[in-house]
Amino acid sequence: MQNFYKLISSILVITFVCCASSSRVLELGDRFLDVRSEGMWFVKFYAPYCGFCKKLEPVWNLVAQTLYNTNIRVGKVDCTRFKSVCQSFDVQGYPTVIFVRGHNEYVFNGERSKDELVHFAMRMSGPPVQQVTRTESFEILKANNPIFFVYIGKQQGALWEFYYIASEANQQFAYFYATNNEIGSKHFMIDSHPVVLVYKENTHYIFPLSDAYDVVEPTALNDSMHNWIIQEKFATFPRVTRENLHQLRQTKKFLVIAVVEENKLSELETHEQEFRDMVEQIIRTKRSKYHANFQFGWTGTPDLAHTIAMEHLPTPHLLVLNSTTNHHHVPDDDPMAMTSEAIEMFLDSINNQTATVYGGDHYSVRLYRAFFETRRLLAEMWRGNPILCFVLFVVPFGFFMIILYSIFCADIMDAEDADDDHEKKE
Ligand SMILES: *[C@@H]1O[C@H](CO)[C@@H](O)[C@H](O)[C@H]1NC(C)=O
Ligand SMILES: *[C@@H]1O[C@H](CO)[C@@H](O)[C@H](O)[C@H]1NC(C)=O
Ligand SMILES: *[C@@H]1O[C@H](CO)[C@@H](O)[C@H](O)[C@H]1NC(C)=O
Repeated sequence: MQNFYKLISSILVITFVCCASSSRVLELGDRFLDVRSEGMWFVKFYAPYCGFCKKLEPVWNLVAQTLYNTNIRVGKVDCTRFKSVCQSFDVQGYPTVIFVRGHNEYVFNGERSKDELVHFAMRMSGPPVQQVTRTESFEILKANNPIFFVYIGKQQGALWEFYYIASEANQQFAYFYATNNEIGSKHFMIDSHPVVLVYKENTHYIFPLSDAYDVVEPTALNDSMHNWIIQEKFATFPRVTRENLHQLRQTKKFLVIAVVEENKLSELETHEQEFRDMVEQIIRTKRSKYHANFQFGWTGTPDLAHTIAMEHLPTPHLLVLNSTTNHHHVPDDDPMAMTSEAIEMFLDSINNQTATVYGGDHYSVRLYRAFFETRRLLAEMWRGNPILCFVLFVVPFGFFMIILYSIFCADIMDAEDADDDHEKKE
């Protein structure tokens, strides 16, 4: 009988343990390295002390719940306990989110929101190009995806081949579909096929095919397909983060960034909201004018803008980055007082290269940027954990001063010693 109670209570305990952490996230350890190539994994590498990891935790639980009924397993690895696992995935910072499929790894670089993470995992779990075989499907795709690429026509020849190659290389960033001419021409204005186009929020742009591609080497087609996809794969007005800035710069366009400051609840004050909306409205209404040379976006963390501009910009502000030269432009006037016409004139003057240029890639600018970044990081660490900062920097600095003192003031000490000795001798 006693054994029975023991059994019951242990079952209760097990149930309790299971459901107290009702999260669907698998805690992975060293053994993960043995099973990583079996199936598909979506894994968060974290450290318990890191602030961004704590912020991701509830989001990650939601991701696990959403993906529970799929064949993607969602897990997490505590890098302070399982260093070797994190090293084998070459984890550089926390948190790092990686989709693991077979022997391939795909690092997530987007915004760490539930929707973005789930989209990413779902995309990576399928083939790079998904076939659309029903007319209605495009209605659903358009309703759910602000942006995707489509190949329309027979799936053969150089265009198809290079579309497929590009989709494999960019699966992490965008959806790629393929369909036949009958279905495709019902949804998109096309004159001929095969054709590749990008759908962007109720409008679409066709990949410019020139006759030259048939004549010149096919690599020219491959290269222009890759470049075009990089230029087109971003939404109209995405959030700019430290993670995606590098990708955004590869568009080789001017990055127009509305800089505003979100509070802890990710809310904006009314005047900042209005400013951001005004900038967004420019690209939405003047798309044909700006789309080719400008990629618009916004950031809710002015820090990022400070890093680019190397100065403290009050919010709201407007910052334009030349993504090939790293030069930047800020308006001469107070951005708050600017109308959308004034902003357009500012953008036009950037386009015709008459606007004032700041920054760049000169070594002195780089040096200053490094200095600015270090100062910013130190200030951030200080705000986050003053005691740790004190131990890390102030205490060693104290030691360093004592060492310096003993090196450079040694003569005086010696002299005093000598005097002492002298006195004693006398
Ligand atoms: C196509 O271009 C991509 C990116 O530039 C490159 O990695 C790939 O090797 C090229 N493939 C062919 C067949 O030229
Ligand atoms: C950036 O600056 C260079 C040099 O001034 C210029 O040639 C280029 O068109 C500019 N724009 C972009 C988007 O790189
Ligand atoms: C450049 O653009 C600005 C703003 O539209 C305009 O005022 C200026 O005349 C232009 N300069 C040249 C050289 O085209």
